[in-house]
Amino acid sequence: MSDPVDRLLDAVELGESIIKNRDILQTTYIPNTIQHRTSEQEQVTQSLLPILKQSRPSNLLVYGKPGIGKTLVVKKVISKIQERVEKSNFPIKLVYSNSKEETTLYGLLVSLGRQLNLNEKELPTTGLAISEVFKRLLNKIDEGKLNAIFVIDEIDYLVQLISKTGKDILYQLTRANERLKQGSLTLVGISNDLTFKEKLDPRVISSLGEEEIVFTNYNVEQIKTILEERINEAFVENSVEDPALNLCAALVGGEHGDARRAIDLIRVAGEIAERQQSNKVTVEHVREASLKIEENKEETSLKSYPLHEKLIILAIMKANGSSTGEIYSSYKNLCKTVGRDELTQRRITQMLSEIELSGIITGRLVHQGIHGRTKKYKLTISSEMIKKTFKNDLTLKDII
Ligand SMILES: Nc1ncnc2c1ncn2[C@@H]1O[C@H](COP(=O)(O)OP(=O)(O)OP(=O)(O)O)[C@@H](O)[C@H]1O
Ligand SMILES: [Mg+2]
Repeated sequence: MSDPVDRLLDAVELGESIIKNRDILQTTYIPNTIQHRTSEQEQVTQSLLPILKQSRPSNLLVYGKPGIGKTLVVKKVISKIQERVEKSNFPIKLVYSNSKEETTLYGLLVSLGRQLNLNEKELPTTGLAISEVFKRLLNKIDEGKLNAIFVIDEIDYLVQLISKTGKDILYQLTRANERLKQGSLTLVGISNDLTFKEKLDPRVISSLGEEEIVFTNYNVEQIKTILEERINEAFVENSVEDPALNLCAALVGGEHGDARRAIDLIRVAGEIAERQQSNKVTVEHVREASLKIEENKEETSLKSYPLHEKLIILAIMKANGSSTGEIYSSYKNLCKTVGRDELTQRRITQMLSEIELSGIITGRLVHQGIHGRTKKYKLTISSEMIKKTFKNDLTLKDII
């Protein structure tokens, strides 16, 4: 028997890896070709074309479910346009920022400003009023007679970042042209939250959505060809079995049509295959990967709950399928065990509905004759999962 450590080290030294280029399987990797998105690429380009003639394109809203190429397409179009205008002398500036990566509205505006070459002195990283930051951005556009396009990705997060003071900023951004003497500003918003418009001021909707492009989900066949190309670039030839590829496409394409999930799935399957020192990715590896990804998601969401939510989840685990009242008394006992003050039943009822939204528990209304009705809750995940996740939590150790 060879030494297990040596065996693994040897395999690496001999280059016996089925993944030849890991970076290509990262979701930040930009593929050479964008399949199945010809019409979307055309629509986005069409919409921004006026900028090349130095007139202002309409504001644009790009919509669609997660992982279906919105960021990819918009980034490609703006970088192609930027490439062209760099050769000419048109003062055109296309800038991109992602609201999810910023913690404040201020941060987001500064990130846009830096791309317009505003330095720390002209636009400090903290300390100004939002209206002042905005004014300086507009001045820069005005003075430079710039034709600017601001792409704000995951714009739904921006709506969350907006406090009372920043409430008007979206409106002002979309109407910035009215304040510009020279140059122009176009806003491109990207969102995967199809309901986010409902949270906006109607004035903002009408000006932001001057034009709208909706991306549709990929189907199983499309996910398959996207995967195929990634696999060809990232894996050693013939190391992913056809049935494994088909299963990947079916698992993801059938449900979400999300290319990001599909790529994650084949990456994890590849890693599992390597760990088992297999020279092929098989259907079993894909199944295992799918389970692992699901479990990781459950674990992350369980871990992210505050203490009282965790106690409620434990209360349900102890009395699965019980009513709100029963859960509440079990929860009160758990509070005693861990030495914490209990919250009111009203608050707990509210929390139950919130946890239900995450899908970890499901509730069912039960009519109890003259006693009215109550809601009964049960877990949708295994109690092993909960124990495993919570056992490292010092406060909960005793309960588990
Ligand atoms: N048509 C495609 N061809 C090749 N790769 C694709 C295609 N569509 C998406 N991808 C890949 O899938 C992943 C997700 O795509 P992208 O980031 O564009 O999704 P998105 O629509 O912006 O999603 P979200 O709303 O979650 O931000 C990326 O890694 C991207 O490279
Ligand atoms: Mg995106």
